[in-house]
Amino acid sequence: MLGLKVLAMAVVLSLACSSVTAAVSYDGKSIVINGRRKILVSGSIHYPRSTPEMWPELIQKAKDGGLDVIQTYVFWNGHEPSPGNYNFEGRYDLVKFIKVVQRAGLYVHLRIGPYVCAEWNFGGFPVWLKYVPGMEFRTDNQPFKVAMQRFVEKIVSLMKSENLFEPQGGPIIMSQIENEYGPVEWEIGAPGKAYTAWAAKMAVGTDTGVPWIMCKQETAPDPIIDTCNGFYCEGFRPNKPDKPKMWTEAWTGWYTQFGGPPPRRPAEDLAFAVARFVQNNGSFFNYYMYHGGTNFDRSAGRFVATSYDYDAPIDEYGLLNEPKWGHLRDLHKAIKQCEPALVSSNPAVAWPGKNQEVHVFETKSGRCAAFLSNYDPNSSTKLTFRNVEYDLPPWSISILPDCKTAVYNTATVQSKSSSAKMVPVIDRLNWQSYGEETPSADDRDTLVMEGLWEQINVTRDSSDYLWYLTDVNVGSGEGFLKNGQLPTLTVMSAGHALHVFVNGKLSGTEYGSLDNPKLTFNGGVNLKPGINKISLLSVSVGLANVGTHYERWNTGVLGPVTLKGLDEGTRDLTKQRWSYKAGLKGESLNLDAPRRSTSVEWTEGSLLAQKQPLTWYKTTFNAPDGNDPLALDMISMGKGEVWINGQSIGRHWPGYIAKGSCGECNYAGTFNEKKCQTGCGQPSQRWYHVPRAWLKPSGNVLVVFEEWGGDPSKISVVKRTF
Ligand SMILES: *[C@@H]1O[C@H](CO)[C@@H](O)[C@H](O)[C@H]1NC(C)=O
Ligand SMILES: *[C@@H]1O[C@H](CO)[C@@H](O)[C@H](O)[C@H]1NC(C)=O
Ligand SMILES: *[C@@H]1O[C@H](CO)[C@@H](O)[C@H](O)[C@H]1NC(C)=O
Repeated sequence: MLGLKVLAMAVVLSLACSSVTAAVSYDGKSIVINGRRKILVSGSIHYPRSTPEMWPELIQKAKDGGLDVIQTYVFWNGHEPSPGNYNFEGRYDLVKFIKVVQRAGLYVHLRIGPYVCAEWNFGGFPVWLKYVPGMEFRTDNQPFKVAMQRFVEKIVSLMKSENLFEPQGGPIIMSQIENEYGPVEWEIGAPGKAYTAWAAKMAVGTDTGVPWIMCKQETAPDPIIDTCNGFYCEGFRPNKPDKPKMWTEAWTGWYTQFGGPPPRRPAEDLAFAVARFVQNNGSFFNYYMYHGGTNFDRSAGRFVATSYDYDAPIDEYGLLNEPKWGHLRDLHKAIKQCEPALVSSNPAVAWPGKNQEVHVFETKSGRCAAFLSNYDPNSSTKLTFRNVEYDLPPWSISILPDCKTAVYNTATVQSKSSSAKMVPVIDRLNWQSYGEETPSADDRDTLVMEGLWEQINVTRDSSDYLWYLTDVNVGSGEGFLKNGQLPTLTVMSAGHALHVFVNGKLSGTEYGSLDNPKLTFNGGVNLKPGINKISLLSVSVGLANVGTHYERWNTGVLGPVTLKGLDEGTRDLTKQRWSYKAGLKGESLNLDAPRRSTSVEWTEGSLLAQKQPLTWYKTTFNAPDGNDPLALDMISMGKGEVWINGQSIGRHWPGYIAKGSCGECNYAGTFNEKKCQTGCGQPSQRWYHVPRAWLKPSGNVLVVFEEWGGDPSKISVVKRTF
C-alpha cells in the first residue's frame, strides 16, 4: 500500500513539472532534454527476448552499467497476430516494459519501425500482411502505407494514453520510423524516395513531442535525424549541421546463425570505437545489443539461432558478461565526467606524433576534457600532452576529464573475466516417446492441388512444417536396380530443410544455410511395382528478415522434382497432382501443450523410440533449487523444437555444426567479425534457455519434437553459475 502511495505522488509531481519544462529537442551538438544538452549512453534490450520477470533486473544492471536510455524495437507480428487482433500481454506487454524502465529512472528510445529487421521472423511484419491484396513491402504502395500508418498510430496512441512520452512526464525521449531504409531507397529509386517522404511526414504528424530518427538514411527529411549503425561510426556525419551525431547501433558482437559459430567482439575494441566516436562529436551511442536474450518460440529470422546472446554486456541468461560489462561501465563513468565540456565545446584536434591524435574540449568557463589516441595497432606509444607524458597501449584511447589525469584507457581492462559455466543439475530424465506418422497423398485431411505450391502460401507460417505428398505408379520390373543402379529422386527446394520419405521410410535429409537457403535432394530410391508413396516434409527455419522485397522470397519445394532411371527414362513429377498437409499430426493433437493435448499412447522403457526420425519425446521434472538461470543441454539431439509447460523455448538444432573462419581474435586495429568467432566444429547452439518464470516447483512438462532422431536420454537440465 505504502509503495503505491509513493508511486502515485511521484506521478503527480512529474506531471506538475512536465507542464512547465518537459520537452525534448536537439541541436547540432546533442539531444536536448528540458533545455539541457546530454551525452546519452543507451543500450538495446528487446522485451520479447526475455520474460517480464527478468525485466527489472536487466534494467537495473543496465543502469548500474551507466546507461541513461533503453532502446527497443516494437514487434508488430507479436502485437497483431491476425488483422485487428492485438496482443500486449506477457513478453509483449510493451507498456509494462516501458514502465519498468521509467521506474528505474531511465529513458526510452522507441523504434516503432514497424519494419525492424532485428533477426526477427519476417523482419517484424505479420505474415498476413503479405497476403493483403496488392501488397508490396516498404515502398510507395497504398495497401502497405495504410497498414503501416494504422500500426504506427496504434502504438503512438497507446503510448500517449499511458503518458509515456517525455513531454507527458514519461520516459520516451525519441522514436524511430522505418529502419535502415537508406540502402533500399538507393536501390529502388523514385518509389523509395516517395515512401521516405511519406513515412517521415506520417511519423512527424503523430505529434509525439519527441524527435524522430531514421537510421542509415542520409536522405532523412527534416526534422528527422539520420543516424549511424555499425562496428565503428566515428566518420559518420549527420545530413544537416543542426542535427546531433548519433550512433543507434554500436554492435557489441553479432548474432549466431545455425551453421555458424557464435561471434565475439572484444571489450577493448568496443570501448575504443565508442571513445573514438565521442571524441569526434558523437553525443548518443546505443549498444546493439546490451542484452540480446533469446528468440523464443518461432520468433527467429531465417536460419537465426534461438540464442540471441550477441556477446552483449549482459548475457543471454541475464548474467554480466565480464569483462565487457565492467569495462564499458568504467568507460561511461569517464565519459560522464567529461560531459560538461563535451556538450559545450567543439574539439580542437592535434597530431603530436605518428599515429597519435589529441582531441581537447575546452569551454570559456574553464572546463577541459581531453582524449589521447594511439592508432598504431602493434606498438604502444608515449604521447606528450601539455608537458606531461602519457603511455598509450596499442590501438587505444585515454580519457582525461580534467585534461590532466588519465582516468581510463580503452585497452586497459580492470574488470575480471566472468567464469560462468553450465553445470548439470538434472541428468536423468524419464522419457516417453510418440512417433509422428508419415502421411500419404490419399489421406483424408489433405489439400489436393496440381503442381507444387509455395510453402508459406499454404501454411501462412502457422507451423514450420509442410508435407508435400504424391504417388508414383511404376510397372512391374521397374523401380529396381537397373545396371546396378536404383532410380534417382531429385527434389529441388527453395528451403530451408527437407526430409524425404519413400513408402514411409526416410530416404534422406538436406538443409540450406543463411547464405544459401536453397537445397537439392538427390538420392537412389527403392520403389516397388505399383503405387509408391512419396512424402516430402519441408521445414522452414524462420522467414527472411532483410533484403529488398524479401516478401517475394519463396520457401518450400518448388521443383523440379524428377525420377530418373525408369524404363521410360526420366519422369517429371513437378506438375502432377500433389496433396498438402500443413503442420505435424503431433501439433494438431497439441502434444506440445500438456493442458490442451489429446491423449495418445506414449511408449516408454524398452519401447522408447531409439534415434527414430520424427519423434515426440515427453518427460516431467521438478524445478532445481535456487535462482541460477537454467538451460537444456541438447548436445545429443538433432533438430526440432522444445516446449516447457506448453511454452516454446525455441527451435533446437545442435546437429548443425558450426563452419566458419574461426581465427585468432586480435582486436588491435584488425578487428574482424569473421575471425572473432569461437566454437568452429561444435554445434552452433548446444544450450537452450529455460526461463525460471515458466517453471512450477514440480511436475514441469518438457516436450521435444525431434526431426533427425537424437538420443533424449542424454538431455540434461543445467544451471548457469559462477
Ligand atoms: C565537431 O563539430 C564541429 C561543428 O559542427 C565541426 O566544426 C568539427 O569539425 C567537428 N569535429 C570533429 C572532430 O568531428
Ligand atoms: C601491424 O602488424 C601487422 C602484422 O604484423 C602488420 O601487417 C601491420 O602492417 C602492422 N601495422 C602497422 C601500422 O605497423
Ligand atoms: C498461392 O496461393 C494462391 C491461392 O490461394 C494461388 O493462386 C497461387 O498460385 C499460390 N502461389 C504460389 C507461388 O504457390
